[in-house]
Amino acid sequence: MKCRSCRGPAVIELRRHNAGFCGECFLRHCREQVRKAIEEFAMIAEGERVLVAVSGGKDSLALWDLLLDLGYEVDGLYLGLGIGDYSDESHRYARAFAEQRGVRLVEIDLPADVGFDIPTGSARARRVPCSACGLSKRHLFNTAAVDGGYDVVATGHNLDDEAAVLFGNVLRWSTDYLGRQLPVLPATNGFVRKVKPLVRLGERETAAWCVLRGIDYIVEECPMAAGNKHLGYKEALNAIEEQSPGSKHAFYFGFLTRASHLFRPQAHAEQEGLHPCVSCGAPTTGDRCAFCKLVARATAP
Ligand code: AMP
Ligand code: FES
Ligand code: ZN
Repeated sequence: MKCRSCRGPAVIELRRHNAGFCGECFLRHCREQVRKAIEEFAMIAEGERVLVAVSGGKDSLALWDLLLDLGYEVDGLYLGLGIGDYSDESHRYARAFAEQRGVRLVEIDLPADVGFDIPTGSARARRVPCSACGLSKRHLFNTAAVDGGYDVVATGHNLDDEAAVLFGNVLRWSTDYLGRQLPVLPATNGFVRKVKPLVRLGERETAAWCVLRGIDYIVEECPMAAGNKHLGYKEALNAIEEQSPGSKHAFYFGFLTRASHLFRPQAHAEQEGLHPCVSCGAPTTGDRCAFCKLVARATAP
């Protein structure tokens, strides 16, 4: 197989693009996909400060590297979740990248700074670990960005992630989530803008980016996620993609261009009802935000 761009020997085949690439041209392809996503969805304006949430995995480290490469001013944010060895190891990879590049890593530790870890806190609060974890991440990413004066939070969600989340939302017709499943969530009172610049890249591509760029990342998945629905949806979509390459892209981008606006009014209505949480000041629809309720239950004696 030859590289689509330079006709040299290809090192990776992307069936979705019906093309092979050599190392150099593949890196250029990735940069181009991220640049295109940022431009298409107006994710980051010139001069804005970006906080990229890094888990130590391939996606978020590739994203940090790509954004630096494209010339953005970007610091990292690592959130320690207290999930045993998994958290210790992911922390090491995030720190190693920051040290090698001489870039700033903001660090928050859920057990030390908030008072609970995901395994025991979620059990106490009687919540599924991934749901307590997701809620904590959304809340703490936002407060860290507000406190640090960042304009935008970027996460490493890629095309595989977004297609799988969309698949789950469509299976259950979760219309409230469908209205908010966008590559950019604009800033609203109390929330900074949230962006997903990797939506045009699949996880094979982010892994290949890291290998070609010499970035070490944690390969293990979170032990608490084993067997969850999201992974099942990913497998189902992988089987479909195998049969007909390009399906994930068509599914996700077709939704964005042709269907997502239909679910927007409901999401807007929810946004209108936001006011500051009585306890922490974060925007919420109730008196107390979902995170403060989680903290209260997770840290109750
Ligand atoms: P996940 O929810 O684990 O699929 O991760 C989605 C994205 O959230 C990652 O690509 C990161 O940008 C971010 N993220 C996940 N875990 C962490 C963490 N412990 N600290 C900072 N960012 C994280
Ligand atoms: Fe959140 Fe696994 S990373 S529960
Ligand atoms: Zn609160």
